Amino acid sequence: MSETIHVSAGNEWWRNAVVYQVYPRSFADANGDGTGDVEGIRSRIPYLAKLGIDAIWMNPWYPSPLLDGGYDVADYRSIAPMFGSLDDAQALIEDAHRAGIKVIVDLVPNHTSWDHEWFVEALAAAPRSPARDRYIFREGKGIDGELPPTNWSSVFGGPAWSRCDDGQWYLHLFDISQPDLNWHHPEVRAEFRDIFRFWIDLGVDGFRVDVAHGLIKDLSFPDLDLASEILTVGHIDNHPHWDRDEVHDIIREWRAVLNEKEAEYNKDLMMVAEAWVKAESVPLYLRPDEYHQSFNFDFVGCPWDVDQMRSSIARALVDAASVNSSATWVLSNHDVLRHPTRYGLPAGTDYQEWLMTGPTELCDQQLGTQRGLAVIMMLLALPGSTYIYQGEELGLHEVPDLPHDVLDDPVWRRSENTRKGRDGCRVPIPWTQTGPSFGFGEGAPWLPQPAHFSDQSVEAQDGVDGSILELYRSALALRSAHWVERGDLTWLNVDSNAIAFERNRYASITNFGDSNIALPPGEVMLTSSQPAQQDQLAPNTTVWLRLT
Ligand code: GLC
Repeated sequence: MSETIHVSAGNEWWRNAVVYQVYPRSFADANGDGTGDVEGIRSRIPYLAKLGIDAIWMNPWYPSPLLDGGYDVADYRSIAPMFGSLDDAQALIEDAHRAGIKVIVDLVPNHTSWDHEWFVEALAAAPRSPARDRYIFREGKGIDGELPPTNWSSVFGGPAWSRCDDGQWYLHLFDISQPDLNWHHPEVRAEFRDIFRFWIDLGVDGFRVDVAHGLIKDLSFPDLDLASEILTVGHIDNHPHWDRDEVHDIIREWRAVLNEKEAEYNKDLMMVAEAWVKAESVPLYLRPDEYHQSFNFDFVGCPWDVDQMRSSIARALVDAASVNSSATWVLSNHDVLRHPTRYGLPAGTDYQEWLMTGPTELCDQQLGTQRGLAVIMMLLALPGSTYIYQGEELGLHEVPDLPHDVLDDPVWRRSENTRKGRDGCRVPIPWTQTGPSFGFGEGAPWLPQPAHFSDQSVEAQDGVDGSILELYRSALALRSAHWVERGDLTWLNVDSNAIAFERNRYASITNFGDSNIALPPGEVMLTSSQPAQQDQLAPNTTVWLRLT
């Protein structure tokens, strides 16, 4: 394979940004209540600046009963008291900007919390009254309406409908506490356009849009053939509630708001879609009047496999260029098993089953770590932007053995304790080697940290040659100095077990095989595993070369 892939031009900051995902509950706890907060994040801005990232993406920080980690929003224009205040948020945005860091907030338009004033009003109102029209209330089937209106299931398990005391049912594709909004309703549409404006006026630079492939439901409510549905869809055409064509009209409305505000503030704004759709559908979300970017979840699903990864990369680059967007690279986030753990487990492992039954030793931690570093270095050398999930720069693995009584994810509840869910990737960050929560805060953290977090803390790695943190710092610095502006990519024929490419005399080569690979002549800039070798590349390793 030796062909060139063209990269779209454009100077907007998001095209090549390294975006650091902050899960506010678990990042840094300034007030010692065991939960992270905005002041904690502010205190770590110097750390983030030193890491060399370009932007932070804040997971939801709005008032919420936290029945789905904050994706159950009770008020879209405020900050949860446990995290701080709107003034704190504004101060954080200003601090970040002073440090040269952009801020992206998470917007959750598919559903609200059941504590949102609209839903409280809807429940108090009579069946079929206008207050219920902002959500999706329906009569049930059966003689007394005792059966749900459709057979749809919730992503978290169980039916997607719950029945009110007065007999009507409401739709919730996620938790029972997350009623779906009716996106055919003009008030719903106007409200979200205004929420976009609110946060832009407060100073944010972009939005990560939750469940971007949801929103529109086919109101004729066809039943589905599947016994259960999953978040990643796309195998059914004309699905009644995922990836419907009408969604694109809504996206265009939002983009128009962003375009207006870009002119008003004379700055580049962006939105990135969380759209779990088939790879062929992704470019549709990236048309010039829609999203700027969409997360590349296809790559998250790739195992450690040279051919699958190479074709996923090629497809993402070509697709992004076809709509003048830029590719996105994601390995971990708050919803998936941390990637070093994925790469350390035998191919084909069912992750949720492993979390339930173990054994923990099934994961070869060292191998997973090594492969994780090889992959992130490969991604950082590619055109496009990279999303880093907090703690991955410390080499954190999934915490697979959290005690059952601390599990908080609605997946655990809704699956009747048969799936543990996502708490294992949300454990608070270790900053120091000692202390009640390894420097996360003064009190016990909301999820317990394993003892080995001490050795993985920032303190244990800061300034230590060969540490994962220092590798990330070096890689980010080299990336911004050398890779970002290098333009088009040409595949290199190095070895069938390698993913190798060149961008204007700089090469990245990753060895997926079991034996060493001979390197082309060049000067080693960085390798993902120590020690660097002159002309040979060890298995499970990436090298960056300046070709000679
Ligand atoms: C998205 C979020 C996830 C949340 C779900 C429902 O997939 O990333 O954490 O549970 O939406 O809002």
